[in-house]
Amino acid sequence: MRKKATIPDILSMKQEGRRIAVLTAYDFPFARLVDHGGVDVILVGDSAGVVVAGHDTTLPVTMDEMVYHVKAVTRAQPRALVVADMPFMSCQVSIEEACRNSGRMIKEGGAEAVKIEGGVAMAPVIRAITSFDIPVMGHVGLTPQSVHRMGGYKVQGRKDQADRILEDALAVQEAGAFAIVLEGIPAKLAARITAELSIPTIGIGAGPSCDGQVLVIHDILGLCEKYSPKFVKRYAELGPIISEAVRQYVAEVRNGEFPDETHSFH
Ligand code: KIV
Repeated sequence: MRKKATIPDILSMKQEGRRIAVLTAYDFPFARLVDHGGVDVILVGDSAGVVVAGHDTTLPVTMDEMVYHVKAVTRAQPRALVVADMPFMSCQVSIEEACRNSGRMIKEGGAEAVKIEGGVAMAPVIRAITSFDIPVMGHVGLTPQSVHRMGGYKVQGRKDQADRILEDALAVQEAGAFAIVLEGIPAKLAARITAELSIPTIGIGAGPSCDGQVLVIHDILGLCEKYSPKFVKRYAELGPIISEAVRQYVAEVRNGEFPDETHSFH
C-alpha cells in the first residue's frame, strides 16, 4: 500500500526533482477517487463555494462550511497529504483568530496543513500559525479572494508587477510556509520564483516550470459547464455521461422498466 504523504515528503520532492500532483476534493467519494488516482496532495479548496455550492466567487464560504468539507475528505483516510483552504476573512481580522481558525482545520477537520491566500501582508499571520506547528501552504499571484481589488480574475505579475509577486513569494517562504501556490502569473515569472525559492511551488495557470501543479477536480472532469479557463485541461467529459444516465433512469421509471424483478426483494 502507498505510504501516507507527509510534509517532509513534499519538501524532499522538490529537492529530488520529483513533480508534485495536487487536485482538489470536497467530499468523501471524490477524496477516495483522487487518492486512488495517486495524487500527492488533496487540497480542500474554498473553490467548493463555486463548484459545489454554486456561488460566483469564493468570498461567501464560511469556516463551518470548510470544516464540513475537510471532515468529509479526511474520513476517506487518503494517503495524500490533506491541505485545508482558509476561507475569506478567517485569517484577516487578527492573528489570534487566524490561529484559532487554522487550529479548527487540524483539530476538527483532521487536515494536515492549511492554505492561506496573500503575500507580504499575510506573512505575520503565516509566521504565527507555523510557530504552533500548523504547516502552511501559501498562495500568491491571482488570489481569488482578492477578486474585487483585482477587478476580476486577471493574470497578475505582468511587467512592473513581477517584482511584487516575487516579494510576496519570498515573504511567504520566510514566514515558514512549506509550499506555495502560484496562480495566474506569466510562465516566465513562475519559473523565476521556482528557481529562487527553496520550498516547492505549485502552479495553476503558471506554466510548466513549477515544482507541482494543482487543478480543480470538477474542471478536469468536465463537470463545470459555466466556463473553462485557458489553463484547465479537461481529462474527461463526465457532464454528458451523468445527464445521459439520469435520462435513462427517468425514462425507465416512467415506462415501468425500473424497478424490475432483479431489483426487488422476495
Ligand atoms: O480553492 C481552490 O481550489 C484553490 C486552488 C485552485 C489553488 O485555491
